[in-house]
Amino acid sequence: MMEDLFYREEIEKSKEKLTLDRVSTGIPKLDDLLQGGYPKNGIILVSGPPGSGKTILCFHFIDKGIKQGEKCLYIAVDQNVKSLLIHACSVGFDFLPAMEKGLLKMIEVDIEKSSTYNRIANEVIGREYQRVVFDSLSPFIDTPFVIDRDVDFDKVPIIDKLSAYPADSRSVLRFHLRRLFDLLRKSQSTSLVTSELLEGKNTLSRDGISEFLADGVILLSVDPLMDRRKLTIWKMRGTKHTLKPQDMIITGRGIDIK
Ligand SMILES: Nc1ncnc2c1ncn2[C@@H]1O[C@H](COP(=O)(O)OP(=O)(O)OP(=O)(O)O)[C@@H](O)[C@H]1O
Ligand SMILES: [Mg+2]
Repeated sequence: MMEDLFYREEIEKSKEKLTLDRVSTGIPKLDDLLQGGYPKNGIILVSGPPGSGKTILCFHFIDKGIKQGEKCLYIAVDQNVKSLLIHACSVGFDFLPAMEKGLLKMIEVDIEKSSTYNRIANEVIGREYQRVVFDSLSPFIDTPFVIDRDVDFDKVPIIDKLSAYPADSRSVLRFHLRRLFDLLRKSQSTSLVTSELLEGKNTLSRDGISEFLADGVILLSVDPLMDRRKLTIWKMRGTKHTLKPQDMIITGRGIDIK
């Protein structure tokens, strides 16, 4: 009963506010296609095959945040921060000054370590980041990461039940992904998470689960025969958008949508 009332209040509030607040993507044409940007506080999945521009799309998002004086966090999974910074420079983004000013923090995480979930939680919760990037989710498929057993989280007992399943089972994977998404939601930031798509798989993420947990899905694709790249807004909560794949190019100044 109490819950019904709570929902009613939330729904009434959403009726008052007919449009969602938006967070600029950092790419003006993409903002136009999204009624101003990603839904504020949303979690957006960016998927595509290797080299399709997922990381660069995240760079634009971070760069825009920095320019607006927002606090940003980049979580690099199984990637080296130094090489990411060099990669960013090669497409026109110099993030060092923002890091020195404390506007951008970039951290490398190793999901094979059991302390990693805690590290991410400590980093994300209560630090008031306006923008968070989690790049990428793909290593989860091979190594669903372990949670410290002595941590005081409400859902921890479930992990004991899950330990009866093989570590790479879908239930374990879904559990870990949900935990991560819950964490990002609690952080109150707007988040981008990336996922590598493998050819021939009929899902929108490598895990086949994240696309349902996310508020939006941006799909990047490459057509080597035509020497062409496309960006498709597959879903975006509360947003009227085209489903038509948009031509995009990558240059020394990042992504440009035609
Ligand atoms: N200066 C540049 N000019 C043109 N294209 C570039 C430039 N730098 C990178 N690219 C293109 O961008 C691609 C890399 O983009 P990005 O790192 O965003 O891909 P990704 O989807 O994150 O890949 P992965 O799944 O491997 O992490 C390169 O493979 C290349 O095709
Ligand atoms: Mg990448």
